[in-house]
Order: sequence, then structure tokens, then C-alpha cells
Amino acid sequence: MSQSWNEDDFFVTRFESWESNANYWAKFVDECTLRGAIFNSIISFIRATSNRDNYPPSILDLGCGEGAFLRSFYYEFPSAKLVGLDLCNNMIESATARSYSIPISFVRGNFEAPNIVIHEKFDVVTALLSFIEASELAIPFHNLASSLKPMGTGIVAILDPMNEIYRYFQERREDKKLLTSNNNFLISAHFNSSNGYSPKPYFRFVRPLDEYLHAAFECGLQLDYAIPVIDISMKHIGKLAPRVVVLYFSLVDHSPSHIYRHQN
Ligand SMILES: C[S@@+](CC[C@H](N)C(=O)[O-])C[C@H]1O[C@@H](n2cnc3c(N)ncnc32)[C@H](O)[C@@H]1O
Repeated sequence: MSQSWNEDDFFVTRFESWESNANYWAKFVDECTLRGAIFNSIISFIRATSNRDNYPPSILDLGCGEGAFLRSFYYEFPSAKLVGLDLCNNMIESATARSYSIPISFVRGNFEAPNIVIHEKFDVVTALLSFIEASELAIPFHNLASSLKPMGTGIVAILDPMNEIYRYFQERREDKKLLTSNNNFLISAHFNSSNGYSPKPYFRFVRPLDEYLHAAFECGLQLDYAIPVIDISMKHIGKLAPRVVVLYFSLVDHSPSHIYRHQN
């Protein structure tokens, strides 16, 4: 199925959909075993790679949702500087309430807008299952790269594209749609928790891994590792389980001209 879609409408729909889904999302994250596995895998990596020069590592989380990853990060690195950015008001509200008494700054912002206004640089910038929602990757990666200190680490978690395509064809659910503008899939799906189904669908792109690597490379980021994380819970019996790939980049070319050139 192919269908044309308007990028601005899509953005508005996505924004509204997260505003309605925020409370359901918090419950979903609490119950989602895959989320815990992703967070643990990333935190182990950061623990293993941080050194005296960047300890405790400061972190910016782009598309932080209700803040679960930053809270896990805080328990490992209690004196780290922690900043979360999200598009959605209700998500920021939920993150602030759920992180009560933990020193995390949550700010509202759009990582798809040129030059998000964060006036500092971080040792680690993460985008966990959030860039998969962006309609294009150049600006999100530009924002990630320009928020990193020299030699800082960019961490982008995506759903494994091939696995997503198999899952799509296996499940063929009504709420999953295959809309494509440039050979990418755009999938809409509801998530389910003990709160019930999310009131609105959410959207994500399935695009080749190369598109992420290319956008990152264009901003001076070098891929160091790609580490898979799977959901080992029993709830996917008879179905393909979602699989996440965590991409670890280091900022090797941080010259402003390099980053600026790719902003246009
Ligand atoms: C699937 S949730 C992931 C949340 C969190 N990173 C996690 O792993 O639990 C995606 C989040 O990205 C946010 N988001 C989507 N597009 C965004 C944008 N352009 N700028 C900032 N946040 C965005 C949504 O509001 C939502 O909270």
C-alpha cells in the first residue's frame, strides 16, 4: 500500500498523539521488559567506557519520554548532570512527577528543529527509540552531534529494521500501516499495558540502517559499536519479538564548519 502524506500534518498528528498517550506510556514503560534490558545494556556500556576525564558523565536524552532512562542513569551516576528533552507537554509533566526528588532537568523541545537551544555540551547524548519517529534524520543527528563534547558518545537506539519488516508481515494487524514516501515504511501502532490500549496510535519509521549511519557520518560521528538487545520475556511466544539495535557513535570531527555544512 502506498499513500502520499503531508509532513506537517504528520508532525501535528504525532505531537497530538503523544499528548493523549502520555499516561498510558508511563504504565507501558513500567511493564515493558525490553525497556529495562535496553537501559541496562547502555548503562553497562557507559560504566565500562567512562574514565577519569568524563566521570560522572553528563547526559542529554533526546525524546526522553517519561524519564525512565534518566532515572536509571541517576541510580548508577548520582552526581551526573542529567537533562531530558521532549516534544510533548504531558510527557514532560509525567517525567517531572515521576522523577520527584531526583535532580533531572526536563525541558520541552523539538529535536527536529534546527539548533535546539541547549546551551551546553554533554559527554553522552542519547536518543532512545525517538529518532525512529523523525521524518528525516539530518537535523536530529545535527542536534545530537552539536550537543556533544569533543570525543563525546552519541547513543541511538532503533528497532532493528529487518526484524520490523518480518514482524510487520507476520502480524498484519489492522493498526499497522505501510505508508511510504521514499521506500521507508511508516508504521502506526497502539501499545498495550494493564491500563488498556493507548487512545491514539503512535508512528515510527522503518528505514535502512544505512540511513542512520549516513546521517551520523555527515555530522562527524563515527560508528564504534552496534549492539543488539532482545526481549527475553515469554510474551512473544509464537511471534517474532521486537529487537533493538543500539548504535554507539563517537564525535570525531567536531569542527563547527563540519557540523554547520550539514545543517543546510
Ligand atoms: C517511543 S517514545 C520513547 C521515549 C523514551 N526515549 C523511552 O525509550 O522510553 C518517543 C518519545 O519521543 C518524543 N518525540 C518524538 N518526536 C520528537 C521530537 N521531534 N522532538 C522531541 N521529542 C520527540 C515523543 O514525545 C516520545 O516521548
